[in-house]
Amino acid sequence: MHLLPRVTLGILCLSLTFCAPSTPDAPDAVPDPALKTAYAEDFLVGSAIAPKHIDTIGMRGKNLIMREYNTITPENIMKWEEINPEPEVFDWTEPDNFVQFGEDNDMFVVGHALVWHSQLSAYMQEITDPELMRTAMKAHIDAVAGRYKGRIDAWDVVNEALNEDGTMRESVFFKVMGEDFMTEAFKMAEEAAGPETELYYNDYNMWNADKRDGAIRMLNRMRANGARIDGVGMQAHYSIVGPSIDTIEQAIAAYAAAGYQVMMTELDVTVLPNPWDLEGAEISQNFENSPFMNPFPESLPDSMQTVLADRYEDLFELYLKHADKIKRVTFWGVNDGHSWLNGWPITDRTNYPLLVDREYAPKPAYERVMGLRD
Ligand code: GLA
Repeated sequence: MHLLPRVTLGILCLSLTFCAPSTPDAPDAVPDPALKTAYAEDFLVGSAIAPKHIDTIGMRGKNLIMREYNTITPENIMKWEEINPEPEVFDWTEPDNFVQFGEDNDMFVVGHALVWHSQLSAYMQEITDPELMRTAMKAHIDAVAGRYKGRIDAWDVVNEALNEDGTMRESVFFKVMGEDFMTEAFKMAEEAAGPETELYYNDYNMWNADKRDGAIRMLNRMRANGARIDGVGMQAHYSIVGPSIDTIEQAIAAYAAAGYQVMMTELDVTVLPNPWDLEGAEISQNFENSPFMNPFPESLPDSMQTVLADRYEDLFELYLKHADKIKRVTFWGVNDGHSWLNGWPITDRTNYPLLVDREYAPKPAYERVMGLRD
């Protein structure tokens, strides 16, 4: 196919660059090609990362992040229960390291996530009085967004507030404060983080037409009530079979037409069976493991590598077509071994959802994504 000459050269070059012991102290030595340079004219490309990826000098994960990406998102360390486990108790160590790493490497640093019903500290779940919850929410947002004012470039202010039919999820925030919790959260975030920081609403299955329309209605109501919302994070937890490119495209167009920047956040593509027709990323769901459900425990067959590469090529073709609307594409995880999809919705499976394998080597899907930018 048309990529052949480039792929041949690319494999040689990539096998060198992925294995090269580039030191974190020498980011200027970042070789081409890399995702961030290939897509530099189109959108930012990034990854969700964990402390282990930036703690140890010389780690392969750290080198890969520095070489490939120009934006980072913290996988877990800024979630409420981790950064603010008790009232007035904050754990800044890992978040500080994360932000510093992003700054040191001139990356667009995303904060994730200020207000989310999941991975929420127990003390918040016990509050039943609206005013007390408002005060606690403000204390959290002031402290966290305020600490990184001018250093974090954008925040996922509210995560996953909607049901699939576009109605408001009965989260603890909604039950206690009503829909106003959303507007309040965005206003508090703007005040604490400042006017330069972008503010997003982030959710899964944002391609689903009912949820999409509900999201736009909700975001427009919030804007009418004085909240600044810069963009929508469409969590891109996909499978090799769905959602369809058309469906995703219609949603990208709808958010952009409504005046919201679009971010493709949390991109991964599961290759494992999903017989419960489970959609999205409701992390409270878990199911039984079995050989049938874990068909590739040792390695991903070539035929499946091709299916995955085809899917990624289709996705990035779509993203490129709408690059004028899409600001950022962020993978959820650094390599296949790191992905949450090895443990969800069934524990202890072997999944292959990213562009980079367990040995930090590029997969055929990486080649295909790079090939689009020749
Ligand atoms: C959701 C959240 C993320 C992460 C993923 C799965 O999509 O937004 O923070 O928890 O689920 O790991």
